[in-house]
Amino acid sequence: MKTHSKIVEYHLEASAFSWEISSGKSIEAWGFNKQVPGPELRANVGDTVIVKLTNNLNEQTTIHWHGIRLAAGMDGTDVVQKPVSPGETFEYRFVVPDAGTFWYHSHANETVQMERGMYGALIVEDSTEEIITDAERVFIIDDMKLDAEGAFTKPRWFIPRVVERHDGRQGDTLLINGKENPTIQMFAGHRERWRFINASSARYFVLNLAGREFSIVGTDGGLLESPRPVRSQLITPGERFDIIVGPFEEGDVFSLESLPYNRMTFLRPRREIFATILVGRPAPSVAHVPDTLRTIAQLAASHTEINRRVVLSVGPSLKDGMDFLINGSAHVNDKPVKVGELQVWEVINASLMDHPFHLHGFFFQVLEENGTKPAFTAWKDTINLKPRSKVKIAWMPDNRTGTWMYHCHILEHHQAGMMANFEVVADGMPIKEMAHVHTHHHHH
Ligand code: C2O
Ligand code: CU
Repeated sequence: MKTHSKIVEYHLEASAFSWEISSGKSIEAWGFNKQVPGPELRANVGDTVIVKLTNNLNEQTTIHWHGIRLAAGMDGTDVVQKPVSPGETFEYRFVVPDAGTFWYHSHANETVQMERGMYGALIVEDSTEEIITDAERVFIIDDMKLDAEGAFTKPRWFIPRVVERHDGRQGDTLLINGKENPTIQMFAGHRERWRFINASSARYFVLNLAGREFSIVGTDGGLLESPRPVRSQLITPGERFDIIVGPFEEGDVFSLESLPYNRMTFLRPRREIFATILVGRPAPSVAHVPDTLRTIAQLAASHTEINRRVVLSVGPSLKDGMDFLINGSAHVNDKPVKVGELQVWEVINASLMDHPFHLHGFFFQVLEENGTKPAFTAWKDTINLKPRSKVKIAWMPDNRTGTWMYHCHILEHHQAGMMANFEVVADGMPIKEMAHVHTHHHHH
């Protein structure tokens, strides 16, 4: 079954262009290869992915490979690389070690660049996976805040500015794969795998298929251990969920929508339609979804002692209305972690609104949510925290030393300071140096 790993090469050009979101309605988008989302990148587990990024924007940019366990230097943040200037090309090169639904997005001036469309899917397949479906689709959820002329605007006055910083930028133009309310046709009797990515700045998307049941089979870090039947699923900015839908009956028409979610901001929660599903004539199905998808080894017992606390809070600020903080400060340098030393972090949301917490480059397992063990095990890189709540997560820093980052994935909160850098450092010093330190000590 083992196939040879290949080199998969892509070229992404970042530029500004006009993008039609529905017939006759265009926006001034920024994106990759003149499309929103950018091209869907695909590779198999173990492949080496090479992406040449050419920047034809009028400002600097970088690409972050959200969820990929790559070397720190390829992570796309401005602490690990010089941002790519207009006219320049940068080559990203990394191995994709895990199967799953990942995505790439700008990691420079994100509140503008991502809002305008600089994101795309990166799907990593594993030929040994036992799930067989009749079709597979990727759905990238986004929204845009446009004025009556369809232009992106920045709030000019103090109060609207404070509100956008507080709530995150959420708009009324709802997009799925860069289009407004597209029609999705599928065959009756078919079962399909749908991969969802929430690429929006701040929208809490509660996936609902007009009440029809579907099964969750995967999340940020790949498959779950077994399918989980549900009727709705919250997908916060940065998160991914893979689901199995169908079979549906011929002639069935229903909407793919988001149920209201109150994330405790000034915004009024509403039910909103993102796409319309049309079920056509029946077709034979080859779908097979096993009850056991894989086994996930438990990283740590739920009572394992905590070795770090990360407190997310929001405090008043004279300049901007609100500050978004980690452990009481904005834009933090957190303590280093050592390779091979299990990390058990308690992430606390001390504020009165929700925040999706994202860790770059590593997957974690949730050991406890508000003191209770979750119902199932999963690999995550982004997790929502409700107001005044906490999660205990475990993750293992493997041998990828360098500077990493965690932050709230509401882009305006990240920008306003709810982020931290930290180092992954090699465990201890080389033996020779340690001997030296020892001798030196004795001289005193
Ligand atoms: Cu998808 Cu630093 O984020
Ligand atoms: Cu936040």
